[in-house]
Amino acid sequence: DIPALKAHFAAHFKIGMAADPGGYKNAVANPVILKHANSITAENCFKPASLAVSPGVYNWATADELAAFAAANGMVVRGHTLCWHQQTPDWFFTGTAAEVRARLETYVHDVVTHFKGKVACWDVVNECTSDDASSAYRNSRWLQILGPDYIEHALRAARSADPDAKLFINDYGTEDPAKFARLMTIVAGLQAKGVPLDGVGHQLHVSTTSPTPANVDNALRSVAGKGLVNHVTELDVSLYNDPGSCFASRTGCAADITGDATLLAAALKAQALQYRALFNVFKQHASLQSVTTWGIADNSTWLSGFPIARGNRPLLFDATGAPKPAARAITDAGDLP
Ligand code: G3I
Repeated sequence: DIPALKAHFAAHFKIGMAADPGGYKNAVANPVILKHANSITAENCFKPASLAVSPGVYNWATADELAAFAAANGMVVRGHTLCWHQQTPDWFFTGTAAEVRARLETYVHDVVTHFKGKVACWDVVNECTSDDASSAYRNSRWLQILGPDYIEHALRAARSADPDAKLFINDYGTEDPAKFARLMTIVAGLQAKGVPLDGVGHQLHVSTTSPTPANVDNALRSVAGKGLVNHVTELDVSLYNDPGSCFASRTGCAADITGDATLLAAALKAQALQYRALFNVFKQHASLQSVTTWGIADNSTWLSGFPIARGNRPLLFDATGAPKPAARAITDAGDLP
């Protein structure tokens, strides 16, 4: 077996895992998260689609259950997420711009106040960066209705509701230098206006061949250079190295390899090397305070349905909860296949 990850990396960063109560109570996953994690992110139950029933009406039950589980088991909670273009009820976006802004601010205020003292940090704004060079900002409904200031409104509302919670902008693709530059344009604008912001969340949904560790290294250093902290928020390493067309149009996606023992073994080895390279970079950065995998064990992962339905094993623990080559690689167990 391997040492508890939270102890192994205690001098560097917290170890987090993402799950909803149904995920962490699963018999495979439960011992894994209890042994290894000192941080937890709700995979879905802290999102507006889960919490917001109708304006001013909330369903706290599942999120409260997760917060209580975290408190009882020595885990901090990363709150994910307050303002996103997905998993948000359509009624958020109805009415005048002034009404939409007020609804956003009220929602952020109510949720952050509810979890005051129970949530250490919030992914206040999720995935606000454009995927192409047309703009720094994702062309989301938030942007279309409120313009770029929606980010500022959300951050200010969060800070005023809980001055002790650390506030993050969280995005995928920060390992891509061009997209990361757009994110940092947004960050620089916020800082120039004195908008409260404590850190950048790097999702790091990656593959065995991309990104290069150097790109991650550069992104972490740039964020620290702005006086912000770094969190790795959604790490997983897909077995597949798909072309861009797979994500854009679901064409040309790599075929399922989980039924082929030879291909699978090679992919799991490549995955272990990628995890090790990434953690070697992570350990170099004092500004990196938290590393969360997007899931607990391979029995449950969003990547079995994205970009296409296909077997995938992107996490550190296998479908029985046993440590994979990747878990041994990052703890220097020294027996890489
Ligand atoms: O809860 C409903 C259920 O009532 C319904 O019967 C079922 C039928 O499809 O859907 C259930 O909702 C699903 C939800 O997960 C909870 O399981 C949604 O369809 C499904 O789309 C949703 O997927 C989540 C996804 O975010 C939504 O965009 C994934 O679990 C979750 O892992 C994923 O997480 C995101 C991060 O928040 C942000 N970064 C990317 C990451 C991966 O996409």
